Amino acid sequence: MATNKKRKRHAATASPYIEVRRSGIHGTGVFAARDVPKGQRVVEYVGEKIGKVEAERRSLAQIRRARRSGGASVFVFELNSRHDIDGAVPWNTARFINHSCSPNCEVEIVRGRIWIVARRRIRAGEELTYDYGYDFDSFEEHPCRCGSRRCVGYIVRTALRRRLRKVLAERRHTDQLAA
Ligand SMILES: C[S@@+](CC[C@H](N)C(=O)[O-])C[C@H]1O[C@@H](n2cnc3c(N)ncnc32)[C@H](O)[C@@H]1O
Ligand SMILES: [Zn+2]
Repeated sequence: MATNKKRKRHAATASPYIEVRRSGIHGTGVFAARDVPKGQRVVEYVGEKIGKVEAERRSLAQIRRARRSGGASVFVFELNSRHDIDGAVPWNTARFINHSCSPNCEVEIVRGRIWIVARRRIRAGEELTYDYGYDFDSFEEHPCRCGSRRCVGYIVRTALRRRLRKVLAERRHTDQLAA
């Protein structure tokens, strides 16, 4: 028997500060539509609130899909010790924000909501970025094309970048000796 249940519709999150278009870093990106003052919340990272077990299951599925397609991978965002937000929903405009090793935005979690906030004054037209905060594990699967002077070539969080530089230098050295 056919049911006539309507799916709940969500409008894509919008903000006067942002516009979505093609990025030089990767695929689609989010750009400042006007000058953004330091400290301004630019957009909320929204999605489905899920428990940790489900989050782990979805993250692994997203990674598997990304390995097959070579496309964007993880959209699961840590909210707190019990819940995560799966931002892989069409109404989450913030899912298009790319990573940079010199980001102009940061993430703030306030009373269970995830906000993307300007770390400094951002000029109209600049691409909005934040530090994805990735771990060291399997860094090779996340090459970084942010183009900043501080870029190490892979997406890892700021605190791990020095360690990664060392590992990469050691590898280069070993390769030279082997050549
Ligand atoms: C949340 S999506 C960001 C939106 C993405 N540009 C898109 O078109 O769907 C995250 C994915 O974007 C890509 N990405 C984000 N920042 C990147 C960077 N600095 N360098 C290379 N790829 C990046 C990676 O594939 C990553 O898994
Ligand atoms: Zn980078």
